[in-house]
Amino acid sequence: MNLNRNDLCWCGSGLKYKKCHIEFDEKLALLAEQGFEVPPREIIKTKEQIEGIRKSAKINNAVLDLVADNIREGMSTEEIDKLVHDYTVSQGAIPATLNFEGYPKSVCTSINDEVCHGIPSENIILKNGDIINIDASTILDGYYSDASRMFIIGEATEEAKKLVEVSKECLRVGIEAVKPWGFLDDIGAAVQELAAKNGFSVVRDFGGHGVGLEFHEEPFVPHVGRKGEGMILVPGMVFTIEPMINAGSYEIFIDSDDDWTVLTRDGSLSSQWEHTILVTEDGVEILSK
Ligand code: MF3
Ligand code: CO
Repeated sequence: MNLNRNDLCWCGSGLKYKKCHIEFDEKLALLAEQGFEVPPREIIKTKEQIEGIRKSAKINNAVLDLVADNIREGMSTEEIDKLVHDYTVSQGAIPATLNFEGYPKSVCTSINDEVCHGIPSENIILKNGDIINIDASTILDGYYSDASRMFIIGEATEEAKKLVEVSKECLRVGIEAVKPWGFLDDIGAAVQELAAKNGFSVVRDFGGHGVGLEFHEEPFVPHVGRKGEGMILVPGMVFTIEPMINAGSYEIFIDSDDDWTVLTRDGSLSSQWEHTILVTEDGVEILSK
């Protein structure tokens, strides 16, 4: 797609290319020439796409607010699934996980030593002291959003409370590390440093991801890494940051009974928070949280 200066810009702004993304494209081309990893154009969202993702995220946020208002000891994770499913559908949206690569439910519910992708069940009852991650994702008019939060049921141990708090901070410092024209791995570097300082470890086998037009897009967003490495971040990129922090080792395994649930290998607790973010001209906009 080689545009002339007077052609309409590829981003759908209605402006001539020379008045819109030409400088942006030239900057990226130069960086690529210099050997930096740059994002492909398909993952740079247009204004219209960003508006669509924003609307999707609004519903996704409301889903998690609804869970926050209703989650309680004695409830089954199946009941959470029903809440999420029914609310999402009532808004004219679709839960993104439902039937995604065979995943059977509308939300992921991961308790204690479950790292992520726990499947709701009427046999799983929330009990005092549990920590649980609720991971919701929404499709509205074809646009995807994704976020997760932790909930503490009743009174948890000091260690569990600290893990939940630190993992939330890990997400915060990860987001703070996002700068337009900065580096993707700055995120992982920040997350890893904070987790390690608190004696916790960071899961490596799963990460964040581009999102918006599909559930999982480029780039993979590692939560460990070295500053100044990885893809260049540019305005218009939309991706999740979703650090999974373990109280013990970062090693995980997948439950062979359901082929979905990810657990810590050593049985230690795991905690995760996730936002979908947009890289802007001057920083970051949080879309779903
Ligand atoms: N929100 C989760 C993620 O992006 C969903 C994973 S796909 C599922 O990691 F099928 F496991 F839900
Ligand atoms: Co995600």
